[in-house]
Amino acid sequence: MIRLKNREELKRMRAAGRVVSEVLMRLEEEAKEGVTTWELNEIAERMCASGGFKAAFKGYANYPASVCFALNEEIVHGIPSKKKVLREGDIVGIDFGVLLDGYYADSAITVAIGKIRPVAEKLLRVTRNSLYRGIEVVRNSNRVMDISKEIQTYVENEGFSIVRDFVGHGIGKELHEEPQIPNFIPPNGKGRGVTLCSGMVMAIEPMVNEGSERTKILEDGWTAVTYDGKLSAHFEHTVALTDNGPEILTERIH
Ligand code: MF3
Ligand code: CO
Repeated sequence: MIRLKNREELKRMRAAGRVVSEVLMRLEEEAKEGVTTWELNEIAERMCASGGFKAAFKGYANYPASVCFALNEEIVHGIPSKKKVLREGDIVGIDFGVLLDGYYADSAITVAIGKIRPVAEKLLRVTRNSLYRGIEVVRNSNRVMDISKEIQTYVENEGFSIVRDFVGHGIGKELHEEPQIPNFIPPNGKGRGVTLCSGMVMAIEPMVNEGSERTKILEDGWTAVTYDGKLSAHFEHTVALTDNGPEILTERIH
């Protein structure tokens, strides 16, 4: 069952989205050489406490922290650690969500630490662009798979691969609602998925690998990494479909 959001709910989700974007902007600023992912998580937790909102991931399926980080070959769901020190040349995914006034918002960015290799630059650019291309087809009477196809085609044409083991999702009163939003067309999948309509709110989140799409999970039970050890990047926005087209609730503008 897909839960459509009315105007009042959208207002609340907009507020949640704004808070997420503010935290991500702050973490992006603070993500410098020598800083640990632990410290970045602490900053987010302090912002939650002072702002009166709740980190969406903490305690979700027993996840132990407020932010997920993904360094270099890590794809998603890396746990903050005092041992994870950011170094020049790294790329780091920062994934954060909140629960505010009964509604969730969820967003992720991948940032460069100092100067990074050209292939890493390209991976960040392509992954970010693929998200915006996907958002561009969030239109009434399009289907979920139009988003998937747009993202997949662009990414593969650029010579990278799309992760299959994690997908985007509806979002609202729960962090994960229907429908699932894959960033690829499932093989032998029938049809083009459900039809998009005003009131749907979706977290679209392409995860793009430099090499193979294959993944594995580390011993900690959380961190997803590329099987081949090559780089991975992740961008995510919470997007509402309105009568005027897509509205990005987690855009970092201010
Ligand atoms: N952005 C991710 C998602 O939508 C973050 C979830 S991490 C978890 O699934 F820790 F909450 F599981
Ligand atoms: Co998400």
